[in-house]
Amino acid sequence: MLTFSAKCLLIGLLCASLKAEFPNDPKPCNYGDSECIKKLFNYLVQEKKEGDSSINLLPIDPLIPEDIYITQGGDGPVQLNLTFSNSQILGLSKAVAKEVIGFGKDLATKHEVIFKMPRVTLVGNYAISGKILIFPVQGEGTCNVTMVDPEFRISFKGIPEEKDGNTFMKLTNFRLHPETKRVIYQFDNLFNGDKVLGDTVNKFVNENWKEVFDELRVPFDKSFGAVFKHIIDEVFNKYPYAKYFNE
Ligand SMILES: *[C@@H]1O[C@H](CO)[C@@H](O)[C@H](O)[C@H]1NC(C)=O
Ligand SMILES: *[C@@H]1O[C@H](CO)[C@@H](O)[C@H](O)[C@H]1NC(C)=O
Repeated sequence: MLTFSAKCLLIGLLCASLKAEFPNDPKPCNYGDSECIKKLFNYLVQEKKEGDSSINLLPIDPLIPEDIYITQGGDGPVQLNLTFSNSQILGLSKAVAKEVIGFGKDLATKHEVIFKMPRVTLVGNYAISGKILIFPVQGEGTCNVTMVDPEFRISFKGIPEEKDGNTFMKLTNFRLHPETKRVIYQFDNLFNGDKVLGDTVNKFVNENWKEVFDELRVPFDKSFGAVFKHIIDEVFNKYPYAKYFNE
């Protein structure tokens, strides 16, 4: 792994212009220059993890989301209501952009970024009730849900919005598509602290993490997608779209 300063030597101009010109003139990349945009995203998530008010970037590591509600109804193998509150998402500042599509001159197209990271962890309070495969599950307490080697494919479509004669990008059709090598769950205090039942369910969901993950894909996309959409929305709210790019 190169250090950030070594990377800066390699892409000297980009880093120099970022350092010198953010926030007054955030135009480090040409439209659609995916290599440059990748490096820009890496710079922002890794170096600006505490946020950057000059471009409306919220803190991303730790990321403190609003309460997250995951609801899976129907008659599938996983039916539950799961709430995360007072939670923190840790590890996003280790994300590396692997692929960038879009961000061209025409904002009204599909934009996509694929981020990989070693781990991402959600810690906080949970409340759960429902059924996971064969088990009825109920409880509230603290939890740690960790994804190992996840990849987040984030995609959205831009829609132009005119404000004071300038064109801003609004986000629509936002999707968060996660893949991961593993999910490690730890739910403390399930069933009011009944240790035998709690340990059984924790063991079961960890052994069957893949099935649980696949069952919860759609509500996961919806709930966590909203968290990520908000971050990106805020950035593109700050300046007209054209302000972010060179011709
Ligand atoms: C989830 O909550 C809704 C609304 O309170 C309720 O109607 C539904 O039965 C709950 N589902 C489960 C699986 O507990
Ligand atoms: C969460 O769980 C992971 C995997 O077991 C562990 O490595 C990590 O230290 C835990 N994080 C916190 C904040 O408890």
